[in-house]
Amino acid sequence: MPVPSFDPRAQNEPLLAEIKAAVARVLESGRYIGGDEVVRFEEALARHLAVAGAVALSSGSDALLAALLALDVGPGDAVVTTPFSYFATAAAIVRVGARPLFADLDPATLTLDPAQVEAAIERGKRLPGVRRVAALLPVHLFGRVADLARLGELSERHGLALVEDVAQAFGARYRGRAAGTHGRIGCFSFYPTKNLGGFGDGGAAVSDDRALTERLRRLRQHGQGSAPYEHLEVGGNFRLDALQCAALAVKLPHVARWQQQRLALAELYRAALRSRGLESFVVAPTPAPLGEHVYHQFVVRVPAREALRAHLAARGIGSAVYYPTPLHLQPSLRPLGGRPGDLPVAEQAAREVLALPFFPGMTADAVDEVVAALASFKPVGMADG
Ligand SMILES: Cc1ncc(COP(=O)(O)O)c(C=O)c1O
Repeated sequence: MPVPSFDPRAQNEPLLAEIKAAVARVLESGRYIGGDEVVRFEEALARHLAVAGAVALSSGSDALLAALLALDVGPGDAVVTTPFSYFATAAAIVRVGARPLFADLDPATLTLDPAQVEAAIERGKRLPGVRRVAALLPVHLFGRVADLARLGELSERHGLALVEDVAQAFGARYRGRAAGTHGRIGCFSFYPTKNLGGFGDGGAAVSDDRALTERLRRLRQHGQGSAPYEHLEVGGNFRLDALQCAALAVKLPHVARWQQQRLALAELYRAALRSRGLESFVVAPTPAPLGEHVYHQFVVRVPAREALRAHLAARGIGSAVYYPTPLHLQPSLRPLGGRPGDLPVAEQAAREVLALPFFPGMTADAVDEVVAALASFKPVGMADG
């Protein structure tokens, strides 16, 4: 039985009639940009996250860009972030003219290590051409919330704006509050594979600060104020279509249920890896306090990853590598001076991580199939490792 690495159909199919009705409503309304559908989705999102304001945006990438613009991060500023994320995280910093400062990871969680963050802040203060270290941009990677208590404390102590990249952690909670609501701005993605996935690109930025949400609304419309065609600042076209908002509003109330399925699947994987004696060969994600890991992906660490991927593919089992190259070693960012060996935890993770098939609606049989395929590789892996 082939097992794809991701399949949105099991999630979407039971809602298709409702989604089609929402889409038809938009088509018939004649209003495709802005309007009630966008406002309704934004209000539902803000209520869901218990945050003062949510601004629907064209993608998670644009949410990050708009967030940094709204916080006046720009040339001469440095932003401390993780080297182990999707490229968009660092790209937003570069796009506003600021400089990313990469700090290494906690090997147990693959999120920012606060001690390394502090060292990066100190390094940034002494860097020629850097006027101030302006912001801290942690990523809740694979659905696991970073150490927000210590990162929040560091942001306060050093006067940095905390911006959360919550693209992979919709629905996660930390100490009683939704991930994405702990800093100045939280940036979400609704890319179809995400925990709240749309039917194309989409994103949002949320904040408890009304001045910031108003600025984000202005920025998403090329900086236009209340007078039409008067542009108070340079932003972009960062709007999210009414169609996406209408469909996302249908899916939003179901995220918590899919979340339960994700947690159950993660436990099935752990139990299956244990029962086949694979724990030392396939290292499962470290368990987190309830709510702090929403398993956007189930990412294991393995030796001989490329051979294992080929072995899985030959058995019809999908897998993916997020991410094979840490950000400081990306060709486009190499001019910043990053060298192999600078960030050893991230670099080792980039060599070892493997995302196994994982999505709400995946069956227990499919989990068994994946783990059986991993087990049949074990002797080669052990010999290699
Ligand atoms: C951690 C992270 N940040 C940012 C993004 C960018 O989101 P989008 O693809 O919606 O632009 C993604 C998604 O791919 C992501 O995984």
